[in-house]
Amino acid sequence: MDPNLSRLQPYPFQKLAALLAGVTPNASLRPISLSIGEPKHATPQFIRDVLVEQLGGLSSYPATAGSESLRNAISAWIERRYHTGKIDSAKQVVPVNGSREALFAFAQAVVDTSKGAPAVIAPNPFYQIYEGAILLAGAQPHFLNLLPENGFALDLKQIADDNVWRRTQLVYVCSPGNPTGSVITLDEWQALFELSDRHGFVIASDECYSEIYFDESKPPLGALEAAQRLGRKDFRRLVMFSSLSKRSNVPGMRSGFVAGDAEILAKFLLYRTYHGCAMNPAVQGASAAAWSDEAHVVENRRLYREKFEKTLAILSPVTEVEMPQAAFYLWLRTPIADTEFARQLFEQYNVTVVPGSYLAREAHGINPGKNFIRVALVAPVEECLEAAQRLKAFYSQFATAKNRKDGVAGAHPPSPSRPSP
Ligand SMILES: Cc1ncc(COP(=O)(O)O)c(C=O)c1O
Repeated sequence: MDPNLSRLQPYPFQKLAALLAGVTPNASLRPISLSIGEPKHATPQFIRDVLVEQLGGLSSYPATAGSESLRNAISAWIERRYHTGKIDSAKQVVPVNGSREALFAFAQAVVDTSKGAPAVIAPNPFYQIYEGAILLAGAQPHFLNLLPENGFALDLKQIADDNVWRRTQLVYVCSPGNPTGSVITLDEWQALFELSDRHGFVIASDECYSEIYFDESKPPLGALEAAQRLGRKDFRRLVMFSSLSKRSNVPGMRSGFVAGDAEILAKFLLYRTYHGCAMNPAVQGASAAAWSDEAHVVENRRLYREKFEKTLAILSPVTEVEMPQAAFYLWLRTPIADTEFARQLFEQYNVTVVPGSYLAREAHGINPGKNFIRVALVAPVEECLEAAQRLKAFYSQFATAKNRKDGVAGAHPPSPSRPSP
């Protein structure tokens, strides 16, 4: 077997299960899970209808490149959403079975192990697939810590060693970020593009939360839009990953796309042809319908906005909490070790959250997820509010203890917030 398999860590949910094994949760409260980032809003009826209508497609093998109508629907969506001008739907778009498999497969296709000690850079904390993809591609991960003191911005200067940049073949970024919700700014994109031009690495921009934001007039900036604005109309060395899972509440449908540099996508498509991962024809039909409709996405955002506003109102008296720039997570500081916080919260209040340290790695001398928890506000509003009340009660225990000790009010010092992108 590939020895790199033994370099894979257990997935955070396995670590969480081990942490909570043997802990008896408060049985007087119904369990509430805020740990998994799985959307729970209803799948729009029209998507279900099209899926059923298109079942006739099951009688033939689908093309790996996807149907023309799906690629056209995706291209039209990119043009509307990111103001990119014309996208070549035959060359600049490839449908994928959810962004997860594509994010993984992409590293396998991009990394060239013949070049010696290939490096791949990823944010930290991060969506765990990146690390597995990097290790199994035979590369060495290098992390960029996302830190509260600079608003969880992408700080490229953290990798000061030019030797690392020279060996870098691929950089993963996640915007809006899981778990911080932070969005990469145009200036940050420019800095990243300049490094890519200097060192020749490919950029994989994971944008699966791009449609979950709170101000209808300010959709998060995307990689292709940033490239277009900076005059990089060929999207050289840039590929973005998008998904219907969160946008349209269809995580089980497994549908997304990659778009960007036509030369890279031609090679990636060749890889995928051999990999054998063409999208189910009925899913292709339903996906084309979903990408062509925005009304359900606006309604989806309304539900998240309501949930976040009400949850923040409950939590803000007891802990430092801000509306994230986008995505559906709260990334909250913990007054005690994050693992202990998650364990006691489960025990006393029957609420499950992910310890931040499970979503990050030790890099540059720290684990930037330490003393944070990730709270996924995916459940229905009432359940999220019930969970927020329990979190409030739990946080209050520490605020009370601290106030007794300090003789002052307030649970945590505020950290500087980041300007809007
Ligand atoms: C940051 C990030 N990227 C990608 C994915 C994968 O989403 P999907 O495969 O459903 O498109 C997830 C899922 O939670 C995620 O959090």
